[in-house]
Amino acid sequence: PAEKKTYSIGFSQCTGGDEWRRVMLNDINRELTLYPDFRLIYKDAANSTATQLAQIKELVQQDIDLLIISPNETSPVLTAAIDEVFQKGIPVILLDRKITSESYNSFIGADNLEIGRMVGEALPTLLKKGGKIVEVWGLASSSPAQERHKGLIEGISKKPAVQIIGQLYGQWEQDTARKVALANLDILREADLVFAHNDVMALSVQQVCKEAGIRPLPLFVGIDGLPGPKSGLQKIMEGTLTATFLYPTGGEEAIETAARILAGKAAKREYVLNSIRIDRSNIKAIKTQSDKLLLQQQDIESLNQRIGQLNDTYASQKNALYVIITC
Ligand code: FRU
Repeated sequence: PAEKKTYSIGFSQCTGGDEWRRVMLNDINRELTLYPDFRLIYKDAANSTATQLAQIKELVQQDIDLLIISPNETSPVLTAAIDEVFQKGIPVILLDRKITSESYNSFIGADNLEIGRMVGEALPTLLKKGGKIVEVWGLASSSPAQERHKGLIEGISKKPAVQIIGQLYGQWEQDTARKVALANLDILREADLVFAHNDVMALSVQQVCKEAGIRPLPLFVGIDGLPGPKSGLQKIMEGTLTATFLYPTGGEEAIETAARILAGKAAKREYVLNSIRIDRSNIKAIKTQSDKLLLQQQDIESLNQRIGQLNDTYASQKNALYVIITC
């Protein structure tokens, strides 16, 4: 509504507990500083669909003007809950994960089917000898896991030398990946390459293989390609991961899109973010760019803090002046 001065944006996050989603929230908050009229109400469902359902209700009760959501699963209940929000006239932006209905204004995320295909097509060039693959799934009921798997199958269908010998279900999480890897050491011993649906799980399974003394270690491929000392880019640099595929968070684009929708402008229905394969052939250039970007982001964040402090000082001086004038 045009007469409203501030807008409340509800952000329902399937989990806030990993680095990729911390980066996403940072991206969102940085972009939000350009929109002083927006207030973010953030809810973390901690990987629970039941919690996310309850939090969607809370957000609606808090009278949000727009919902940004990364749905935990593509489940019918979650889809129905989002349908209901959309039918109330509250615009919906889906971020990274999908639902099974059309009840949204904009979907923002990289093309997971295409990423899966790229993985499948890259495998023969990564594997010099054997072609036995173990696939480590993210949460099987979430759209990125389903699409990454489907893409992988399509990608390797033209490559008869590559064969999936095992599928483990790591649910996107380091600890779950560790548990399933420990329970499947026999299969991992056979593997030439482990493809995990994210870098966190690839590294976790690798750790288990090292502890179990598996030699030679299979190659490890993941997805996300995050910056930071423990994440994908650094692990490619060190040669711990053989390849990863960039998976941008879309946080910035989500706020940009929210602003367009709230201003009554047209927004892209499908906002596809680009991915690329990262391996030793291009890591140096990518790492240099990413480090530079990180520094710039930190500068922007400290600049924002400084502006906040200046605004506070200004507000208190204005109050003091008002007191002096009116006395
Ligand atoms: C983070 C994460 C990422 C993955 C994405 C898929 O929670 O597991 O590692 O790429 O979610 O939704």
